[in-house]
Amino acid sequence: MKTILITGGAGFIGSHVVRLFVKKYPEYKIVNLDKLTYAGNLENLTEIEKEPNYEFVKGDIVDGDFIQQLFTDYDFNGVIHLAAESHVDRSISNPMEFIMTNIVGTVNLLNAAKSHWEINFRGKLFYHISTDEVYGSLGEEGIFTEETAYDPHSPYSASKASSDHLVRAYHDTYGLPVVISNCSNNYGPFQFPEKLIPLFINNIKTNKALPVYGKGINIRDWLYVEDHAKAIDLAFHQGKSGETYNIGGNNEWKNIDLIRKLCEIMDTRLERKEGTSEKLITFVKDRAGHDLRYAIDSSKIKEELGWEPTHSFEQGLGKTVDWYLQNEKWMKRVTSGDYQKYYEQQYG
Ligand code: NAD
Ligand code: TYD
Repeated sequence: MKTILITGGAGFIGSHVVRLFVKKYPEYKIVNLDKLTYAGNLENLTEIEKEPNYEFVKGDIVDGDFIQQLFTDYDFNGVIHLAAESHVDRSISNPMEFIMTNIVGTVNLLNAAKSHWEINFRGKLFYHISTDEVYGSLGEEGIFTEETAYDPHSPYSASKASSDHLVRAYHDTYGLPVVISNCSNNYGPFQFPEKLIPLFINNIKTNKALPVYGKGINIRDWLYVEDHAKAIDLAFHQGKSGETYNIGGNNEWKNIDLIRKLCEIMDTRLERKEGTSEKLITFVKDRAGHDLRYAIDSSKIKEELGWEPTHSFEQGLGKTVDWYLQNEKWMKRVTSGDYQKYYEQQYG
């Protein structure tokens, strides 16, 4: 019996990872530690919440004593660390939360893993989930590999870069067994509607303006979240300690093209006249320090671990739209209360 700590399991990607692990590995005990910030939602996990190999613990990774005690209580064999403040726009208006959770919180987990495991590191693993945004911004050419130098621009990406460096430092200095993966933009069910795709699905549905930053020329690589969860499963079980794996969808889209595609799908699903949703597109002031382009070379994880995305963008986007349209109650609940305040502040 292995006991695995998954942090941030009530968030978007974390909930997919928890669901996959609880179902696929009945012989593991999965402990989900989450603070339940605005982005954490236990409703994302109703499918598995009653499983005997699953346990939820509410807590804050910034509280070092609490984290040490948790390691004493559960005697974890492995950690998959996803808990983070994750939205670039929020990092611009409130960087301190990002420094505390993403950097201090990660160091608290590293310290606890080090002190509880250092008698014998064998069979232990600290797996840190990171982002392609740490590599900075590309021009029209180029691609991020695992060797690309870090060059973060937003407080979010700088805090993630910092945590990645600390994870590597604990490996190099203390011999802590670690794996890091850096993934491109995820999309899919259960993503909080502050990120581009769910925000725009919700705005189209409710006939609200679609705030496109700048000229909409920024490019992102999009990966369906379940494909990311499968990559995490592989890297956790077969990744080599001390290694980094880039994960991407090989699926670059200019924002404005993606938004037009989404409008098209929504018109069909909502049985609206062709071109109706596009009329909601509104170009607004650009994001400060807006990275132009991300593109990721995921050949290492493909060659070494045999991972490849299984969803085409067409398929993934269709499934995502259907999920949001079928889960109106989920959307209503997460957009009540504080969401309205955030929306006012961000978009006026
Ligand atoms: P999310 O914002 O949806 O979820 C984050 C979760 O962490 C929430 O459940 C929240 O309650 C929890 N959390 C926040 N602060 C905490 C704290 N101090 N203590 C305990 N729990 C806390 O994020 P996500 O999009 O699911 O991203 C998960 C991870 O994957 C992050 O580390 C992020 O940097 C990384 N990542 C995200 C993407 C993406 O496109 N979303 C891409 C690559 C990497
Ligand atoms: P986002 O989903 O916030 O992910 P990230 O910034 O981590 O890549 O944004 C994706 C792209 O969409 C990014 O280039 C910013 C842009 N964007 C808008 O144009 N308008 C919006 O309201 C949001 C949230 C994002």
